[in-house]
Amino acid sequence: NKGNYEHYMQKEIHEQPESLTTTMRGRLLRGGSSKAKSVLLGGIKDHLKTIRRSRRIVFIGCGTSYNAALAARPILEELTGIPVTMEIASDLLDRQGPIYREDTTVFVSQSGETADTLQALEYALENGALCVGITNTVGSAIARNTHCGVHINAGCEIGVASTKAYTSQIVVMAMLALAIGSDTISSQARREAIIDGLFDLPSKVREVLKLDQELKDLANLLIAEQSLLVFGRGYNYATALEGALKVKEVSLMHSEGILAGEMKHGPLALVDETLPIVVVATRDACFSKQQSVIQQLHARKGRLIVMCTKGDAASVCVGGACRVIEVPRVEDCLQPVINIVPLQLLAYHLTVLRGYNVDQPRNLAKSVTTQ
Ligand code: UD1
Ligand code: BG6
Repeated sequence: NKGNYEHYMQKEIHEQPESLTTTMRGRLLRGGSSKAKSVLLGGIKDHLKTIRRSRRIVFIGCGTSYNAALAARPILEELTGIPVTMEIASDLLDRQGPIYREDTTVFVSQSGETADTLQALEYALENGALCVGITNTVGSAIARNTHCGVHINAGCEIGVASTKAYTSQIVVMAMLALAIGSDTISSQARREAIIDGLFDLPSKVREVLKLDQELKDLANLLIAEQSLLVFGRGYNYATALEGALKVKEVSLMHSEGILAGEMKHGPLALVDETLPIVVVATRDACFSKQQSVIQQLHARKGRLIVMCTKGDAASVCVGGACRVIEVPRVEDCLQPVINIVPLQLLAYHLTVLRGYNVDQPRNLAKSVTTQ
């Protein structure tokens, strides 16, 4: 049921304030006068000790689910102190990469049925790793076959391009970081700030959704382009990859997410007056580096669209004309949840304006159950 919306993807983008609320329901404890704020993930609480003792956390997934894990990686590393590595499920299988008994492997999958992710799970089970699932589908193969896990509870997602599952996955993995790290006293203040940020997140997403018309206008400008680059780094490297994935999979426009730190190692050669480039430059520890990236792209006459924190338009656009998308600021590790929304809206509007099928893009399936 699409309700008042024309497409499921549109509905699912706009219901993110509600889906995020459901994802967090019953899992954030506000704390009392003497009790600290904390996170309770019923599905993994009995395994936290084992996870804390593991030598490595390995995230495994495909497509958008992989990107969500990439967005959460920095906060996992920060709060747990455990090395976190990333695996695209098919690539882990192709390489038969090393997985050990001392590893915690985390399988991220909206459907819980993706063939490569499922096969990677079998492989990790054979190798004796602790297997944790993060899925949206109760009773799915990945939910059943993992040792433990967390349901993201985002509600049924119908659009082939994943939107609300992505933001709920990031939130669940941030909560996972909080839960694993909860025995470290020195990061108590940081964890409480993130929990406060989680409580505020649905209202901040509601705020960023108000940019809908602005993104439709931008889509109108970009409708006939051949290609769109998206630059990000740090917490928002994942935003660049996921934003580009959304644009290419539904609007059928070539798009590439680029790690801004790699700009000089190839991508800079593409920059000219015509190619549109989105630069994600919201406030965090990488902000000044992104300002410098913007200046260098300006110097090569790049056609820039800068995503920045509300109030920063003047400081990100010095010395050149550029379009800005101003977004509300949240705790740095949660910013990817906000920043993906304008790019979801852009992909959606580009698709409708270009006349393609939004909910069932050409050649793609919601759940890829064959290899
Ligand atoms: C559970 C109930 C929820 C109830 C709540 C009350 C279910 C599905 N969830 O939520 O309805 O309101 O208790 O306390 O009945 N699991 C995996 N792999 C996965 C995902 C989950 O093994 O990929 C396991 C978990 O380890 C757990 C169970 O499935 O044993 C349910 O997980 P989850 O729904 O996340 O647990 P709760 O949030 O505690
Ligand atoms: C397919 C979907 O390619 O599978 C994507 O079209 C999704 O939206 C990917 O990200 C992985 O699916 P899942 O269910 O394992 O998260």
